[in-house]
Amino acid sequence: MFDISQFSLKGKIAVITGGGRGIGQAIAFAFAKAGAKVVITSRKAQDLESTAAEIKAFGGEAFPLPAHLGKTDEIKKMVNTVMEKFGRIDILVNNAGASPAINSVLESDERLWDTIMNLNLKGAYFVSQTVANIMVKQGGGKIINIASVDGFNPEPGVSIYSISKAGMRMVTRAFASELNSYNVQVNTIAPGPISTKMMNSHWGHLSPEEAQKAKEAVEKMLPSGRIGNPDEIAGAALYLASAASNYTTGAEIIIDGGLLLSTHLS
Ligand SMILES: NC(=O)c1ccc[n+]([C@@H]2O[C@H](COP(=O)([O-])OP(=O)(O)OC[C@H]3O[C@@H](n4cnc5c(N)ncnc54)[C@H](OP(=O)(O)O)[C@@H]3O)[C@@H](O)[C@H]2O)c1
Repeated sequence: MFDISQFSLKGKIAVITGGGRGIGQAIAFAFAKAGAKVVITSRKAQDLESTAAEIKAFGGEAFPLPAHLGKTDEIKKMVNTVMEKFGRIDILVNNAGASPAINSVLESDERLWDTIMNLNLKGAYFVSQTVANIMVKQGGGKIINIASVDGFNPEPGVSIYSISKAGMRMVTRAFASELNSYNVQVNTIAPGPISTKMMNSHWGHLSPEEAQKAKEAVEKMLPSGRIGNPDEIAGAALYLASAASNYTTGAEIIIDGGLLLSTHLS
């Protein structure tokens, strides 16, 4: 019979990149509520510290750890610090991501390419590699990669971001195929539109009226009729972090309010 305690993360050490706000913060809250000690890492110490304070306020354990994850030396330093403190990493969520500009493929420049790819793809790859080596030695672990529906169908204006998220799906499959025999499960969550700073920044260049219209247009396009919230990603992440998913690897969970069902997109 199914044992509900499989969803417990009691005693697990979880590293969540971009854990100070948005989707990463929702995942950090969920994991801490399920009993994990959560290490949250991103550039801004302030976001990390306020998130850690919220976690501590409900009785969870959280450790803010500032790092720029588009830089390989900072990735190594971040992972070393976690290992010095906890001696193991059971769960990694590669959630940190950026989509800093809206540009046509005719205009996107090399600097934008490097900024996005260094974090979204190269960063995720090398955080995974560094942590996977630890997981292999300790006999297992869980890696969860946050991709996007844009990695299935390119979103006009964010070509480099879309390419990075398509690459992220392959990071999952590449790591899953090589790490299966080491009891490391690697899976993807591909969110659709979720109300966060990143999503709202897409409309930052518009007037409030235009931004409202753009938001309504997205809602109209969605079979769900609404934009999702970060908590709606956290349940899938909890499943993929827990023993309940021990037979799940190389998989993709799409959480998009039905967006990819929209015929004009697929
Ligand atoms: N919101 C959506 O509609 C949506 C849809 C599909 C996929 N996603 C994906 O979901 C993930 C989370 O996005 P979100 O919507 O929650 O956006 P968000 O609120 O902008 O959060 C992004 C997170 O990434 C961190 N980050 C950015 N650059 C970083 C860097 N160089 N080094 C370390 N951390 C960095 C940010 O913290 P700092 O600024 O402190 O560094 C922040 O914590 C991203 O991978 C995104 O692509 C989002």
